[in-house]
Amino acid sequence: MNDRWPKWLKLNESLKALTPYGAPQISLANRLNTNENPYELSASLQASINAAIAKEVKSLNRYPDRDAINLRSALADEIKRQSSLSFGVENIWVANGSNEILQSIALAFSGDAMGFEPSYSMHPLINRSAGKKWISIPRRADFSVDIPASLNAISEQKPGLVYLTTPNNPSGNTTDIDQIESLAKTCQEVGAIFVVDEAYAEFSNSPSALLLLHKFPNLIISRTMSKAFAFAGVRVGYMIADPILIEAMLLIRLPYHLSSLTQAAALAALSHSQELSAQIAQIIDSRKSLARELESLGLVVIESEANFLLFTGFKESSGELFSKLVDKGVLIRDVSIPGYLRVTIGTEDENKAFLAALTSTL
Ligand SMILES: Cc1ncc(COP(=O)(O)O)c(C=O)c1O
Repeated sequence: MNDRWPKWLKLNESLKALTPYGAPQISLANRLNTNENPYELSASLQASINAAIAKEVKSLNRYPDRDAINLRSALADEIKRQSSLSFGVENIWVANGSNEILQSIALAFSGDAMGFEPSYSMHPLINRSAGKKWISIPRRADFSVDIPASLNAISEQKPGLVYLTTPNNPSGNTTDIDQIESLAKTCQEVGAIFVVDEAYAEFSNSPSALLLLHKFPNLIISRTMSKAFAFAGVRVGYMIADPILIEAMLLIRLPYHLSSLTQAAALAALSHSQELSAQIAQIIDSRKSLARELESLGLVVIESEANFLLFTGFKESSGELFSKLVDKGVLIRDVSIPGYLRVTIGTEDENKAFLAALTSTL
């Protein structure tokens, strides 16, 4: 792998062995591979966004609000609406997708980075590209976090950053709030920042790590508008944390990093956030019925509180089944766990197309 780079190229050592993030971008009728919300924005929301952008277009000669105050304030209100917990602008940072949030965290804080895998593949990639050592603690066979082993690993290896994804990607299962608290506490004891990636929180009924923020100044909750908010194309992610951690983000952010068009579009979407509840309920219902259908085909489905399902129990290899489905016009995800594949919950038609393709293949 290392010799693909010419000798004269002074690429950072930490980058030489990496491969870029590469979810296949194949233009098929049924794309169920990147955990997007399958529904387009409502006509009234599209109209609000168009109006907000048209207004903003008049002042595109000016830089955007560098501190995104209005958007951060609207995100604080949204978190309050969802959780009944009170946060202000000083608790929120916002960026171009939660990937940018995760990258800023990796750039801002020192020490090794640790995560419980399999989990979101960008956590190691972002940390390695930031020059950090990545410490991988294996999850159990059922994808739950091995809490005693994890607490030990944190105490012994004293990382600077610890990542937990809940609901986890690619498995969809959650970590209990008391377990999250024990991880936060052990992180605090060794001086580690604890990042809880809640990209799929809106699809879950489990208590959020938001409940622990008042106790742990070392805790960061990372969220995104890409999934439940159906806003993947706009690129808006945010974090909720103690104000001192938000101040650290200001050191890392590029000046005017979030375009005025992005800020205007996100503000418009947040003003319609109540509309989304029905859609999220629909996606959760579809997840439950798709899980039942897969089980009736003799497959084993990991219990998911996200907008996707990880399943196993098929005879071919993951790669073979993935390719057969592609040939039938359905793109799902080979997440590099042998014997498993992940499917995003789609519209009713997409789910039917996936099931039909799968049934004819098994
Ligand atoms: C766990 C997790 N975190 C973060 C992200 C990044 O999302 P975005 O950069 O679109 O906010 C994803 C995307 O799939 C994800 O699965």
